[in-house]
Amino acid sequence: MLKVNDLRKGFGFGRRRIEVLKGIDLEIKQGELVALMGPSGCGKSTLLNIIGGLLAGDSGSVELNEFTYGTRQPSGNVKIRRHGVGWIFQDFHLVDHLTALDNVALALGLSGLSDTEANNRALKALERVGLGDRVDHIPDQLSGGQRQRVAIARAVAGRRPLLLADEPTGNLDSRSGEEILQLFHDLCHDSEDPISILMVTHDPNLASKADRMLLLREGKTAASDIRSAWGDDVADDLEEE
Ligand SMILES: Nc1ncnc2c1ncn2[C@@H]1O[C@H](COP(=O)(O)OP(=O)(O)OP(=O)(O)O)[C@@H](O)[C@H]1O
Ligand SMILES: [Mg+2]
Repeated sequence: MLKVNDLRKGFGFGRRRIEVLKGIDLEIKQGELVALMGPSGCGKSTLLNIIGGLLAGDSGSVELNEFTYGTRQPSGNVKIRRHGVGWIFQDFHLVDHLTALDNVALALGLSGLSDTEANNRALKALERVGLGDRVDHIPDQLSGGQRQRVAIARAVAGRRPLLLADEPTGNLDSRSGEEILQLFHDLCHDSEDPISILMVTHDPNLASKADRMLLLREGKTAASDIRSAWGDDVADDLEEE
């Protein structure tokens, strides 16, 4: 489904140059929920941006189903953003004055669907995230967790095979965060329409609920567990829970 091959990216020139990604190799299968962890500034968002087609890598490649890219300029990646990858952000990125339904339908309308079809699909996506009874609410009338669900509905309504989530629970309390994780699980493990999710998180408890964890450190990714990512203390605490 997703395969990243020897991806490299640095910023700046001369003495100011920093190499951030130093040969990333990773693979994600259809239906997998993967947590990406690593210290602040290690390049997690940079990696997501390249996979999402928003930033050009220096070398290497990204294969996502029928698409191959990685070093192409973002302007050449319109198809990937439209059909390949959906985004979920920490601060939701909803339009304040639009209802939940219109927030989800808006993006579908822009991608060329008729109004009726966009509305039907938006409604289905909102039902899928458990917001069937909140479709006429504007973001101000929804809780943080519900707002994030609207953003998730918007991402899944586009029927893209991969969702990228950059600290999706960063603005939520721990209970809402766990509910979002449960929803991610349901979306990935849906027997009819499984998607894959790559999620950045700083929360060891949530990371441990993913199917798999990856640790990004010193420019490379490696499979990880709670112990090697956060040390024995955190692991012991989680095991006690
Ligand atoms: N456009 C840019 N120009 C110059 N340097 C950049 C740019 N974008 C990112 N960087 C640098 O690349 C490194 C990785 O940044 P990135 O945002 O990917 O880290 P991160 O792992 O997402 O961190 P955090 O956990 O704090 O969100 C940082 O040192 C950052 O300063
Ligand atoms: Mg980041």
